[in-house]
Amino acid sequence: MHIFSKKVDLANHLKENNLDKSTVGFVPTMGALHAGHLSLLKKSIENNATTIISIFVNPTQFNNPEDLKKYPRTLESDVEKIKTISEKIIVYAPTVEDIYEGNTKSEHYNFDELENQMEGKFRPGHFDGVGTVVKRLFEIVNPTNAYFGEKDFQQLQIVKKLVEKEKLSVTIIGCPIFREQNGLAMSSRNERLSENEKKEASIIFKTLNKAKNLFGTKSAKEVAEYVIKTFSNHPIFELEYFEIADEASLLTCKRKNKKKKYRAFIAVFVNKIRLIDTISLN
Ligand code: PAJ
Repeated sequence: MHIFSKKVDLANHLKENNLDKSTVGFVPTMGALHAGHLSLLKKSIENNATTIISIFVNPTQFNNPEDLKKYPRTLESDVEKIKTISEKIIVYAPTVEDIYEGNTKSEHYNFDELENQMEGKFRPGHFDGVGTVVKRLFEIVNPTNAYFGEKDFQQLQIVKKLVEKEKLSVTIIGCPIFREQNGLAMSSRNERLSENEKKEASIIFKTLNKAKNLFGTKSAKEVAEYVIKTFSNHPIFELEYFEIADEASLLTCKRKNKKKKYRAFIAVFVNKIRLIDTISLN
């Protein structure tokens, strides 16, 4: 299996093997891989001659230095997991220097307000960091298709906007959320939950499903009230936000419009571990 830590080595390998002329599928990640990441890789392999995964814990998208420090870095076991999918997958696991070349700063982006909703409100600067690293990775990898999970739906919409605004020649493909058996959305952060917390965290997806049912007959405000009440009855959780928003603009749904597609978004803390999830409502 080919693993590169330098962009020049990756570029040379692609060129020498004429892979730069093939359809290239790209899966950007921060590592600590789980079945959700692997589902993106499988999708890429099905539809591209070459598949590249990047593993890079991007410092500029962390607004909390403690979170950056604690983020799991498990390259060896990540590579073992990738091998179970295919030995042909190319791994790009760069250093901070290889990506930022001595200037570890974000570009500032205008994503037409997408960046100021939900995650953007609670994680200032986060999407500037994501935009910066994704654009750089696209320049290095030059993919035909790039795969992103709907788990981070706001990120997916922002990456689509980045491609549109910067006129990048890559197709962005959104992939469904991969879940644990109890419904908990897979996340690298789940590793930090105790067995009991993991079990209890099934309430997040259960509540989203209930919200979806209620949204058929109730207003967005009434659904939000139900969700707030549910979490206030479960003190191990601290609800950061629950939003029902238009899928395209991510603006809060004030009054339902039959022509629009809506989604519920949630962020909850369990024992200081932040979990997010989302569900399509109509
Ligand atoms: P990371 O959190 O490692 O996620 C990498 C990709 O896996 C993202 O597109 C994310 O949405 C997807 N993913 C995570 N959990 C998933 C699940 N349960 N089901 C399906 N897909 C899932 O997102 C990032 O890294 C970074 O912000 C990145 C885009 C790499 C930029 O640094």
